[in-house]
Amino acid sequence: MVASLKLTPTISAAEYGVTNPALAGVSPAIRVAVSFSLGKSSNISKGSLSSFGNKSMPSPLSKRGVVSMCSSESGPTVAVVGATGAVGVELMNVLAGRDFPYRSLKLLASRRSAGKHVLFEDHEYVIEELNEESFKDVDIALFSAGGSISKKFGPLAAEQGSIVIDNSSAFRMDDGVPLVIPEVNVDAMAHIKLRNKKGALIANPNCSTIICLMAVTPLHRYAKVSRMVVSTYQAASGAGAAAMAELELQTREVLEGRKPTCNIFSRQYAFNLFSHNTSVKENGYNEEEMKMVNETKKIWNDPEVKVTATCIRVPIMRAHSESINLQFQNPLNENTAREILGKADGVVVIDDRAANNFPTPIEVSSKDAVAVGRIRQDISQEGCYGLDLFACGDQIRKGAALNAVQIAEHLL
Ligand SMILES: NC(=O)c1ccc[n+]([C@@H]2O[C@H](COP(=O)([O-])OP(=O)(O)OC[C@H]3O[C@@H](n4cnc5c(N)ncnc54)[C@H](OP(=O)(O)O)[C@@H]3O)[C@@H](O)[C@H]2O)c1
Repeated sequence: MVASLKLTPTISAAEYGVTNPALAGVSPAIRVAVSFSLGKSSNISKGSLSSFGNKSMPSPLSKRGVVSMCSSESGPTVAVVGATGAVGVELMNVLAGRDFPYRSLKLLASRRSAGKHVLFEDHEYVIEELNEESFKDVDIALFSAGGSISKKFGPLAAEQGSIVIDNSSAFRMDDGVPLVIPEVNVDAMAHIKLRNKKGALIANPNCSTIICLMAVTPLHRYAKVSRMVVSTYQAASGAGAAAMAELELQTREVLEGRKPTCNIFSRQYAFNLFSHNTSVKENGYNEEEMKMVNETKKIWNDPEVKVTATCIRVPIMRAHSESINLQFQNPLNENTAREILGKADGVVVIDDRAANNFPTPIEVSSKDAVAVGRIRQDISQEGCYGLDLFACGDQIRKGAALNAVQIAEHLL
């Protein structure tokens, strides 16, 4: 069955930005998110549901022969909190694309969006305003409305029996809250199942952490990473739909010789780059960098691993990139590393030195897999104890929505 998501009333392709070079390579889902932030509604199709080659992790449901929700009376009831945002729209896209077997779906957002109509898998929904009563009879609540909303409503939903899968940083480092990348540490959530009929909180890691650990964990399992140095090149979409709209607007303004509008970020973003916009802590690291450091230790259950990060925003619409330098306890040469990554779930290797062809953010946009390339021995380290990599991943998809839906699949 070809599922479609339609947000009504429709707008034209040009309004989506289909003809706009600033949005070239950007999925319809994100154009919708941008449109929402500009106060419009719009429609998208299943066109953005593609996976990268054959390397995306298949839904465990496909192996069990479960059919899509429309005919699944036994599936869980699902709520999407922040359904109108960049991640929320992609969550619905992924639910449809993976035929997630939900019995009913509730779309929640702020008062600003309440009452908007959404056509999804041939069913018309009305966006509801999030409130304390929203989670009655909700089995799985997918949260993507920011940390303060998660802090206020996440525990409340869990108390009412919902299993909350949260995309914000609100609970990531809390003891007792699993921080899960299914390909990496699905065991951390093994005790949480829908059939237990008990509410719970599960956290989705930070998007840069997910992309990094998708690329590095297969090598870590083989040779044990002792130190990791990461530099990120992060897209506008990581800051939500409004940030994407601002980058597009600024690009036009600068090209037309006008002063760029700076509402979301405090400085010019188009044709520029700057240190990540999260606040800088006393130790000189910003919050995004410390998330990568702390979350890696928790996900790998390895408090000793040494991690340092430098996070930068670049004027890319969608998909983050990362330069990763690794030091190993055991030897690992670049050919073995390439082989290991070639077999890893959710990873695709693009590493053609002769053609100078390596991963790019445009190529991975709206794709499931994280692309890895520039796989080379670090010549500054003795023997085969160091490697350099370059990874690109769609942080709205694998860095948020896809990862959350994969977690939900493991609850069934
Ligand atoms: N963007 C990414 O790549 C990414 C990746 C990983 C994690 N995350 C996390 O996911 C969350 C959402 O990010 P996003 O990029 O999707 O942001 P976004 O595009 O700005 O969307 C925010 C969503 O939250 C809703 N919301 C805001 N205030 C609300 C309220 N008072 N009550 C109910 N809903 C409210 C918005 O609804 P209205 O439309 O009604 O305002 C919208 O649906 C954040 O915690 C972010 O850190 C994002």
